[in-house]
Amino acid sequence: MNNAEYVLPTMANWDDMVVVGRIARPHGLRGHVVVNPETDFVEERFRPGAHVWIRPADGERRLTIADARVQGGRPVIAFEGLDHVEDVEGMSGLELRIPEDALQPLEPGRYYEHQLVGCTVETMDGAPVGPVVRVEGGAGGSRLAVEGARGEILIPLAADICVDIDVVARRIRINPPEGLLELNEKLVMKFDIVTIFPRMVEAGLAEGVVGRGIERGVLDVEVHDLRDYTTDRHRSVDDVPYGGGPGMVMKPEPLARAVEDIKARRGAPGAVVLVSPQGRPFTQAEAVRLSRLSHIVLLCGRYEGVDERVRTAVATDELSIGDYVLSGGELAALVVVDAVSRLVPGVVGDARSVEEDSFARGLLDHPHYTRPPEFAGQKVPGVLLSGHHEEVRRWRKMTALRRTLDRRPELLTSAALDEEERAMLEEIRKEQEREP
Ligand code: ADE
Repeated sequence: MNNAEYVLPTMANWDDMVVVGRIARPHGLRGHVVVNPETDFVEERFRPGAHVWIRPADGERRLTIADARVQGGRPVIAFEGLDHVEDVEGMSGLELRIPEDALQPLEPGRYYEHQLVGCTVETMDGAPVGPVVRVEGGAGGSRLAVEGARGEILIPLAADICVDIDVVARRIRINPPEGLLELNEKLVMKFDIVTIFPRMVEAGLAEGVVGRGIERGVLDVEVHDLRDYTTDRHRSVDDVPYGGGPGMVMKPEPLARAVEDIKARRGAPGAVVLVSPQGRPFTQAEAVRLSRLSHIVLLCGRYEGVDERVRTAVATDELSIGDYVLSGGELAALVVVDAVSRLVPGVVGDARSVEEDSFARGLLDHPHYTRPPEFAGQKVPGVLLSGHHEEVRRWRKMTALRRTLDRRPELLTSAALDEEERAMLEEIRKEQEREP
């Protein structure tokens, strides 16, 4: 990009300009680049003689388009003074901007995305909803993504809902149909965890998928110190067992008070789960059931046990994460929060990874490989390198079935197998009969 004649923009600064496209990659040897357009007016914006601004690491520049054609729906353009592929190498990913006042005026009722993003949304009676953070397109029309107090809300950009759009005052008044804001609010999943080790639980919530879900506002998790619900000077949460014997038993009243307080402040939960080794096994099916609720309370037991009346009068469910005894329910509660959260829409970025999970359909997962092609003398199976999608798909199904049959055959009795998988399973069984 050395010998170009650049003129610094005088009428607009970079932040006030709007993006009209992004350089995808160089094209050919004569300085052309392919552009991913982000404008409705591709031919006008990317015609020879038009100006666009870029900001590489060494500063903002105005470039003049010297040559332009549209190929496969995308502009392929060259800039004056940048005549060789070496001049445009390193420009991939750069935004192309123009000053806002150079934009084409739109018909009344149509808006550029940058005019809407940042506007404050409020209801007709002036109640704030939140700022517009994004505009989403889709088959059903555009929607405003608004950062509400309890998470993101999607509001259709329709005249009967967004009744007053004032892009100068940066304000959008909405008349939401009944239930729209509440419907979106339900997408936020609430967890309340009651424990005598709140810091241990908080540490387990801070990172990874759950931490991100909390940050994004899709998960709303509160951790409660059980000792805050005691009434005695020593803040006791346990007592000696009736009938004698070793160990202490967790008292029912602090747990019951904690649940009452949560109900009063955060609404009635769909389930109050006591985690304990005596519970029903916590399975993927159980995680799916809980993920359909919008509010779950988890009670962590400690010591030798929990007063039986917590089970019968406070909890609605009792779940165990496996046939072993942990020293307390905290890790078990974190396991439940993790497995349930990743099923809540918006928590895991790519929904396909949840659908394709091991156990999502009752099977173990197929093997996975990444580079290098050979490691520890073992090669990646050839089919995965073949680029043959249909064969890869079949190989994954076969290996998942084989692995399930070898390691966890009992899962196959309740797995949701399709026609193809049933036939494959038959094939594998016959194979094994022949060479046991
Ligand atoms: N508390 C102690 N052990 C447990 C387990 N295996 N599952 C759930 N809660 C527990």
